[in-house]
Amino acid sequence: MSDVTDWWKTKIIRMEPGEIEFRGQPIQDLIQTQTFTQMIWLMVMGQTPSPAQTRLLDAALVASVDHGPQAPSIAASRMAITCGVGINNAIASGVNMLGDVHGGAGEQALELYQQILTTMIHHQSIQDATDDVLADRTGTGEKFIPGFGHRFHKPEDPRAQPLMAILRQCADEDPSIDKRFADIAEAVQDAIERIKGTRIAMNIDGATAAIYGALGVPPTLARGLFCLSRSVGLTAHAYEQSLNCERNKGPTPPSYRWTYDQT
Ligand SMILES: CC(C)(COP(=O)(O)OP(=O)(O)OC[C@H]1O[C@@H](n2cnc3c(N)ncnc32)[C@H](O)[C@@H]1OP(=O)(O)O)[C@@H](O)C(=O)NCCC(=O)NCCS
Repeated sequence: MSDVTDWWKTKIIRMEPGEIEFRGQPIQDLIQTQTFTQMIWLMVMGQTPSPAQTRLLDAALVASVDHGPQAPSIAASRMAITCGVGINNAIASGVNMLGDVHGGAGEQALELYQQILTTMIHHQSIQDATDDVLADRTGTGEKFIPGFGHRFHKPEDPRAQPLMAILRQCADEDPSIDKRFADIAEAVQDAIERIKGTRIAMNIDGATAAIYGALGVPPTLARGLFCLSRSVGLTAHAYEQSLNCERNKGPTPPSYRWTYDQT
């Protein structure tokens, strides 16, 4: 029968009638001892997080919850709920808008930081490694460095500096947290400033990518954690919108319409 029992082989959960255990810990104990953030870490990383790891993950999750109805994902969840779907469908509509361009920059920024970290073995300093990697990328036509720039927050995103400060504090408390990711993120921002001649904001994705890198979270999972955090905002907006009892709400007030251009 092992072909059947091994079909969904997992280290995450053991379940028998009357028993539930996550990563070797009974649910009865976890309910009494763990916060939701600790539970997220246990589930995805497989261990109980240290206090500093918990605080850092918590900060990243708090910072990413929402960016208002100008964010396509939030607008999608609000529009969806006016169509008569359930709140889960509205949340999923928003999550499904999170792709490489909206919400995916954190995964890409973390890949960039990891590339710089790897390149550091050939360089004297983080700055040299950063310049080298960015020169390669801009040389191949990459115009936008992921994790930097913002449509509204110029020249600083209000979320970045507090996140970098918490990252440095937590790394001082817990040596497993790799402070070099904060240095790399800041080196990338400085390098873009030298290239462009103007300060470009480190955005939420650039800052949380530094945190996830420092925590040892792989890029794919960093995107998953962003989606998890943004789901809080998607839920809040879908619920608030549902209270308005508006039906079939489109992307603009009905008095505004689109340009019909047949040229
Ligand atoms: C978010 C984004 C679309 C905003 O773009 P924007 O509103 O056009 O940005 P700005 O108007 O402030 O751009 C000003 C200048 O900085 C440059 N710039 C902006 N973001 C940049 C970045 N990430 N890397 C390099 N240059 C950037 C622009 O090309 C522009 O240069 P130019 O004047 O020579 O044309 C853009 O910054 C971007 O794609 N960033 C990378 C992806 C990302 O991190 N997304 C998550 C956003 S929360």
